[in-house]
Amino acid sequence: MKAKIHEKFKALYGEGGRVFASAGRINLIGEHTDYNGGYVFPGAIDKGLMAEIKLNGTDKVRAYSLDYNEAAEFGLREEDAPKQAWARYIFGVCRETIKRGGKVEGFDTVFAGDVPLGAGLSSSAALESTFAFALNELFHNGIDKFELAKIGQSTEHNYCGVKCGIMDQFASIFGKEGSLIRLNCKTLEHKYFPFNPKGYKLVLVDSCVKHELASSAYNKRRESCENAAAHIRKNHPDVEFLSDAKRVWLEEVRAEIPEEDFLRAEYVIGEVQRVLDVCDALERGDYETVGEMMYQTHFGLSRLYEVSCEELDFLNKLARKMDVTGSRVMGGGFGGCTINLVKDELYKPFLDAVNKEFTAKFGHAPKIYDVVVSDGARELK
Ligand code: GLA
Repeated sequence: MKAKIHEKFKALYGEGGRVFASAGRINLIGEHTDYNGGYVFPGAIDKGLMAEIKLNGTDKVRAYSLDYNEAAEFGLREEDAPKQAWARYIFGVCRETIKRGGKVEGFDTVFAGDVPLGAGLSSSAALESTFAFALNELFHNGIDKFELAKIGQSTEHNYCGVKCGIMDQFASIFGKEGSLIRLNCKTLEHKYFPFNPKGYKLVLVDSCVKHELASSAYNKRRESCENAAAHIRKNHPDVEFLSDAKRVWLEEVRAEIPEEDFLRAEYVIGEVQRVLDVCDALERGDYETVGEMMYQTHFGLSRLYEVSCEELDFLNKLARKMDVTGSRVMGGGFGGCTINLVKDELYKPFLDAVNKEFTAKFGHAPKIYDVVVSDGARELK
């Protein structure tokens, strides 16, 4: 990928670029907890995004996406937003850097990625984190890594219409080879957990389903959670986020809020606890419990949070039927992947069954990704 990027870069802008990269992410457990101030448990992966960049001495950005074979040129003022969706991510990162007092001037860039789009592996965070990190280096802005992650998150909020939490950008900036990160999304306190379960593999199965209205459905889930938290707060003023609430406090307001909001909140309160249970289980090397929690998460995401779909439920059921240790829909949902914790000896039979049965039912094969937990944003020398 680096050579291909460089070839195009040289043809368009000449020599002298610096190369930066960042990563997509997986999440072992802790879904839709981040914007509720709860815990998540992600890691960066060996699929990501790479960009070659050079300052061009103007006030314009000239960007070329190798994956779309498309160029974009835009200025750096708020009214200069480009039309192409992919370019808005780069524009957003520039704007959010400037809003934080950072310096950004014109630059030329060519970039490409290998995070499958729409699979729930956060290709957009990889894009934001690469540029947030790169601009910070190129313009010597000295912005800390927490703020770099927030630059990516604010880009989603203000330029891409998704009111996401901090998980994806955090993982993609802070990721470390071989480790998952338990992150408290309220305090940003985090701990690295070496993750190398002997005798198991993590396998992603991509349903290849993409939900058209995923961002508005996502934002709606967030509103439900905020509404539930606001009602609970009237009785318990210390509840800043839904993750601060106890299950019984949610029961107290059940009659006041739409049933839908109640179900969403019920899922979140359970999920916050499951992340902690999984951490304890990991420290004991108890992967059976880790797996069981993953199944519970799937149940909640499917029935209470309603972000699964027929294909993902089918994959989850099949995993259960085959005695796979853990399985659940991963990421925002509405399509994308399941993440599966599979015993080595079950790996091949599971994949064979997935290929055969899924294809027979839905008429197309799922995609399988083996991922390695890897480093996040960095400069490639
Ligand atoms: C998306 C968002 C994250 C997080 C997950 C669900 O990936 O970008 O902030 O909310 O969904 O856990």
